[in-house]
Amino acid sequence: MMSEDKTVRVIITRQAGPNATPYEESFDVPYRQNMNVISALMAIRRHPVNTKGEETSAPQWEMNCLEEVCGACSMVINGNRAKPVRR
Ligand code: FES
Repeated sequence: MMSEDKTVRVIITRQAGPNATPYEESFDVPYRQNMNVISALMAIRRHPVNTKGEETSAPQWEMNCLEEVCGACSMVINGNRAKPVRR
C-alpha cells in the first residue's frame, strides 16, 4: 500500500464551552511520513470534516513556539500528558 493511501484516525474529546458536556469526534487524516500530532490537527483544521462526513468546527488548541520549549501545546494524548511536536 502506498503511504498516500493510509490514514490516521484522530479521536478528539471536544466541548462546545467550558460547562458543556464533552463528546468525542473522529477524523481520518491522510498519513504523511514524519507527521506528528500538531500536523494532524492542522490538517483537520484545514479540512474539518469528521468520519461521518459532516463538516464541523475546526479544533482549537493553545500553541506558541512549536519547538518543545514553552509547553503551551501540552495536551492529553492517549491518556498521557504530552507535548505533541516531538520529531
Ligand atoms: S508550542 Fe511551545 S512547546 Fe508546543
